[in-house]
Amino acid sequence: MTKDTTVLLNEKRIFNPNAETVEKANVKDWEAEIEKGKDFKRYWAEKAEQFHWFKKWDTVLDDSNKPFYKWFTGGRINLTYNAVDRWIKTEKRNQVAILYANENGDEKKVTYYELYLAVNKFANRLKNLGVKKGERVAMYLPMCPELLVAMLACAKIGAVHNVIYSGLSVGAVVERINDSKAKILVTADGTFRRGKVIELKKITDEALLRCPTVETTIVVEHTGTPIKTSDLSGKEIFYRRFMEKETAECEPEPMESEDPLFILYTSGSTGKPKGVLHTTAGYMVGVATTTRNIFDIHNDDLWWCTGDVGWITGHSYAVYGPLLLGTTTLIYEGAPDFPGPGIWWEIVEKYGVTKFYTSPTAIRHLMRYGNKYPNSYDLSSLKVLGTVGEPMNPEAWMWFYKNIGGEKAPIMDTWWQTETGMHLIAPLPSTALKPGSVTKPFPGIDADIVDEEGNSVPLGKGGYLVVRNPWPAMFRTLYKDKQRYLDTYWNKIPGVYTAGDMARRDEDGYFWIQGRSDDVLKIAGHRVGTAEVESAFVSHPAVAEAAVIGKSDPIKGQVIKAFVILKEGYKLKTRLMENQTKLIEDLERHLRYELGPVAVVGEIVQVDSLPKTRSGKIMRRVLRAQENGEDLGDTSTLED
Ligand code: WTA
Repeated sequence: MTKDTTVLLNEKRIFNPNAETVEKANVKDWEAEIEKGKDFKRYWAEKAEQFHWFKKWDTVLDDSNKPFYKWFTGGRINLTYNAVDRWIKTEKRNQVAILYANENGDEKKVTYYELYLAVNKFANRLKNLGVKKGERVAMYLPMCPELLVAMLACAKIGAVHNVIYSGLSVGAVVERINDSKAKILVTADGTFRRGKVIELKKITDEALLRCPTVETTIVVEHTGTPIKTSDLSGKEIFYRRFMEKETAECEPEPMESEDPLFILYTSGSTGKPKGVLHTTAGYMVGVATTTRNIFDIHNDDLWWCTGDVGWITGHSYAVYGPLLLGTTTLIYEGAPDFPGPGIWWEIVEKYGVTKFYTSPTAIRHLMRYGNKYPNSYDLSSLKVLGTVGEPMNPEAWMWFYKNIGGEKAPIMDTWWQTETGMHLIAPLPSTALKPGSVTKPFPGIDADIVDEEGNSVPLGKGGYLVVRNPWPAMFRTLYKDKQRYLDTYWNKIPGVYTAGDMARRDEDGYFWIQGRSDDVLKIAGHRVGTAEVESAFVSHPAVAEAAVIGKSDPIKGQVIKAFVILKEGYKLKTRLMENQTKLIEDLERHLRYELGPVAVVGEIVQVDSLPKTRSGKIMRRVLRAQENGEDLGDTSTLED
């Protein structure tokens, strides 16, 4: 991280908003909007008026039991009613809600009315299967319209969805299903990836051997690969059959504002993934408002968020944000450079995408292929661009700005987290931008940079990124783990939300994110916990102990560097008897099996010992300092 910081510190360029963008913008005066947000309860209450409420709320914010905040209490609302049903009574009825495209050149268009029918059928079938309000439904699906149908169906009847990213593998699927005690699993035969089909059904078959709570599996026939039925869950139903003959009328459940909407698992500092719990009304208000104002959504937009629906970016900004605004959301299944590195730009040109939201990793990756790809397409439809997931380096920012945005589309570098549910620090199209800075907190958000005691640090100095006031889309707890919720986010620095990131603020009050302050890696924008990776290593028969740190990577930001102590008689380069692969290759295969392709291994080294505290905790800090050639710092607690 240190290297990046110096680059950022020297970054002085400013890009003023262009007059045409500002003139059309939903919010024309950024500073005035921030001023308005200072009365944050009033600000969010005003935003909540955009929805259809079955019963209006009594209290905007109930903070009587901090930090278990409650928003819009007393209100009754249904997300799906607002994201789908509401539109079929308007001129949007036959407008495309979901535009699906994939690497084979296939496309599917689902109008709001078609989505309404499908969601109702799915919701009714879930009810027939005995799914009740509050019960969990797990999904392990590719980017496809059926995933959105399943999510919206859950929200319609009050079931809680738990979407598992399709790039995760068996171990991760088992853990997430079991922790949430999901009763239903929705999966698919497979997903398209670089000309191949990854057979998801095979992965779920293996996972279900260890998931006793799942009673029914619904399988989407997505790729046309023959499906071997196994009925491990007791009952398997194909999606097409599932939807047959079902009535298309389904009353929306009048949810209480604070009723759970979904659980999404993410990595933390310790081994077990955290079940981040989001609730209904506040989440809707937060994601709809940020989508509308940051990406300046209008009726004629074609919105494309490349983030997978299996992560929070997809939940908030590929599904709920755009649909709550009645926009068309494009979902794409495939890699950014297959069949060629021009594929994304071809899609932008073909459909006339107007707003485009992606990750710094993807930009760095595509930038490597040179300007000729974007330059051979007409990208003039693009009006606003955005990034999320990791710090954006100024070089990639400039490339994105020039080659994709034609020096007219502003870049919204948005800082937020699975936990925050919505963007917290981000510009608006009317903001003057600095490449690499996330600019200032969104209106209504009181973010700060502090030292360990919670005192604000002076401008220019690095510190912990915290938020001082609650916001509507904030997560409410960690599923079944209140104590961890308190310890991880609220007890470290009393009275504020500690995000786990380091940041600094420049002389204009602009925020610059420096990276994580905890043992979480960001690999190609995906959050990977070092402890999870270490457990995966140790579950291999040849490994006695492992310690994992992040290693800088020019494209992915970070990759895994692992230090392993092997059991007696093993060496990394020796071949294993049974299959003739080298141990090092087998370790990589094992990791992919347990965690999926998100766990990108950059280097594995064999060591005889690991730096530990006297109480036996691995000091990754020492390994990191050694790796970066920095001072080892305070080593008084080091055992050896
Ligand atoms: C990092 C993703 C720099 C940060 C929405 C945060 C960022 C973590 C940015 C959350 C950004 C996210 N600039 N870093 N614009 N956005 N991060 O939960 O470290 O997958 O804590 O949510 O990503 O990752 P998560």
